[in-house]
Amino acid sequence: LLPVDDKLALLLQEWKENIDEKIVSVVDGREPEILYDPIEYVLVGQGKRIRPLLLLLACHAVGGAIAACWDAAVAVELLHNFTLVHDDIMDEDDTRRGRPTVHKKWNVSVSLLAGDGILALAYSSLLKTRNQRLPQLVDIFTEGLVDVCEGQALDLAFETRGCVDLDEYLCMIGKKTARLLNMSAKMGALIGGGSDAEVRALGDFAYNLGLAFQIQDDMLDILSDEATIGKTYGSDVKQKKQTYLLIHALSHAGQAKREELLGLLSDSDINEADLRRVKTLFEEVGSVESGTSAVENHVRAAVRNLEQLQPGPGRQYLHAFLDAIHRRDA
Ligand code: IPE
Ligand code: IPE
Ligand code: MG
Ligand code: MG
Ligand code: MG
Repeated sequence: LLPVDDKLALLLQEWKENIDEKIVSVVDGREPEILYDPIEYVLVGQGKRIRPLLLLLACHAVGGAIAACWDAAVAVELLHNFTLVHDDIMDEDDTRRGRPTVHKKWNVSVSLLAGDGILALAYSSLLKTRNQRLPQLVDIFTEGLVDVCEGQALDLAFETRGCVDLDEYLCMIGKKTARLLNMSAKMGALIGGGSDAEVRALGDFAYNLGLAFQIQDDMLDILSDEATIGKTYGSDVKQKKQTYLLIHALSHAGQAKREELLGLLSDSDINEADLRRVKTLFEEVGSVESGTSAVENHVRAAVRNLEQLQPGPGRQYLHAFLDAIHRRDA
C-alpha cells in the first residue's frame, strides 16, 4: 500500500488533469476571438487548481461521489481565474503564472471583458450541476463572490490608508482569499451529501487554510523570486499593499527602521535595491518570523477543524493536502 501522501499525489494529479481538460473546453467553438483568445490564454495557464481540488477532496471526505462535482469544480476555478485577471489590472502586475498578464499581452479593455466572460462561464458551469441542493450551491457561490469583491475593495482602500491593524488585515484577506477556499469546500461537502456539521467543519477548515495561504502569498512576494512564483517580484511593496509583513514591521520596528521603511515606500519608483532593503528590514524586525508562525497558527486551527470530521482516508487526504500547501514555495 502506498503511503497516503503518494496515493494522494496520484489522485490529485489525475483530478488536476481532468480539471485542466474540462476547463479549456468551456471556450470550445466560441467566438469572437477577441473575447475567447484571452480567456483561453488564462485557462491554459499553469494554475495549481487548489480550489477545485479542495472541492473534490471535501466531497470525498463526506463519502460523496466525485462524478457529481466536476461542473462545480470547474466553476470555482473559473471564478478564481476571473478574480486574477481583474486583480492583475488593479495591482498593475506584468507577470502571472510565468507569462505576461492579460492587460499586458492585450490591453485593459480586453482584460476587463475576459474577466467578465470567465465569470459568466463560471455560472454557466455551476448551473449544469445536477443536485437537489443546487439553489444552496448558487447562493454560497454568489455570497462568496460578493465577499471577494468586498475583500478586494478593502485591499485597494488599504493602499492609501496610514495604519491598518492585524484584525482589519485578517478581515480583508478572509474576504479576498479565504472565502473562495471556504465556499469551495462547502460546495464539495454539500454536493457529496454532507451533514450540516460536516459542511461547517470543512468550510472552517478551508477558511483557516485560506488565511494561511494568503499570509504565505504575502511573504513569497518579497522572500521568493519571479522565476519561482511566476509573478511580479515585490509587487505588494511597489503597490504599497498592507501585507502581513508590512503591518507587523510598522508596528514592531524601532523609530529609525520604521522611518526608513516609510521612506522607502514613499518613493514613487521602487527599484531592486529598495526591495532588497525592505526585505532585510522585514527580516531584522522579526516580521518574517512572525509571519511564519502566523501561518503555522492558522494551519493548526485548520487541523482542529478537521478533527470535527470522522476519522478516515478522506480526512487524512485533507490533512496531507494542508501539509502540502504549508510546505509550498509557489
Ligand atoms: C493566487 O492564487 C491568488 C491568491 C489568492 C494569493 P493561487 O496561488 O492559487 O494561483 P494559481 O491559480 O495557482 O495561479
Ligand atoms: C489575491 O491577492 C486575491 C484575489 C485575487 C482575489 P493578491 O493580489 O495578493 O494575489 P496575487 O499575489 O496577485 O496572486
Ligand atoms: Mg495581485
Ligand atoms: Mg491584489
Ligand atoms: Mg499576492
